[in-house]
Amino acid sequence: MTARQRSPAWAASHLVLACGLLVNGACGTGQAPPPPAAPGPEVSTPAPGASPSATGAPPPAATLTSIAPTDTPRPERTPDVVYVATPQAVVDVMLEMARVGEDDVLYDLGSGDGRIPITAARRWGTRGIGIEIHPMRVREANLAAFNAGVHERVRFLVADMFEMDISEATVVTLYLLPDLNLRLRPKLLRLAPGTRIVTHNYHMGDWAPDAHRIVGDSVVYLWTVPDTLPPHLR
Ligand SMILES: C[S@@+](CC[C@H](N)C(=O)[O-])C[C@H]1O[C@@H](n2cnc3c(N)ncnc32)[C@H](O)[C@@H]1O
Repeated sequence: MTARQRSPAWAASHLVLACGLLVNGACGTGQAPPPPAAPGPEVSTPAPGASPSATGAPPPAATLTSIAPTDTPRPERTPDVVYVATPQAVVDVMLEMARVGEDDVLYDLGSGDGRIPITAARRWGTRGIGIEIHPMRVREANLAAFNAGVHERVRFLVADMFEMDISEATVVTLYLLPDLNLRLRPKLLRLAPGTRIVTHNYHMGDWAPDAHRIVGDSVVYLWTVPDTLPPHLR
């Protein structure tokens, strides 16, 4: 979709999205999520490629001014790890090591501002799903995907990574913590043989990586789901 083809309804819905970001002042990186509180009112973010409203009509002007000032979405529970963005140079190495391509489906578990799936879609045409517990991060990511022109290949969902079905993944990226990687490990080992798992910094216990690369202060690890699990991983 080109800028000329965007409907007024689409523009209005994204203006709501942008207002929410500015009002909450949470567009930057490196911040810890705020403490959990009751979820704020949600502003619907159109699914990539979807029409912004059932009728195609722009939302009433009142929507644009009344939602934003009080709209402070919070996660439904405390995130398992705070938000820290992976540096772009590390993202690039993660995706190179995973050898992503346009036939892959990449899941980033704890997707933050969406930079990993967005980079994969921009450079390699990869389809991507970001799973993120913090609704503000999901708004930022969906807006960033639109601005990068990849919103039809990438989408971000507010969800708990431990509860999501990720069985269609052919590549999984993680920047979490060692104990979270270990909690996810059984789910990752159930993915189709050949699925690549790439982490920024953290290991998988006694599941030895296929490769690692050092990038500045970071280490990137690569695993491939084996055809047959060795006894110690069953
Ligand atoms: C260290 S950041 C990584 C962000 C991004 N993947 C990157 O590398 O730039 C971890 C993210 O995981 C999210 N998170 C924490 N617990 C989660 C959970 N149970 N389900 C989904 N996301 C979660 C946090 O809100 C945070 O945005």
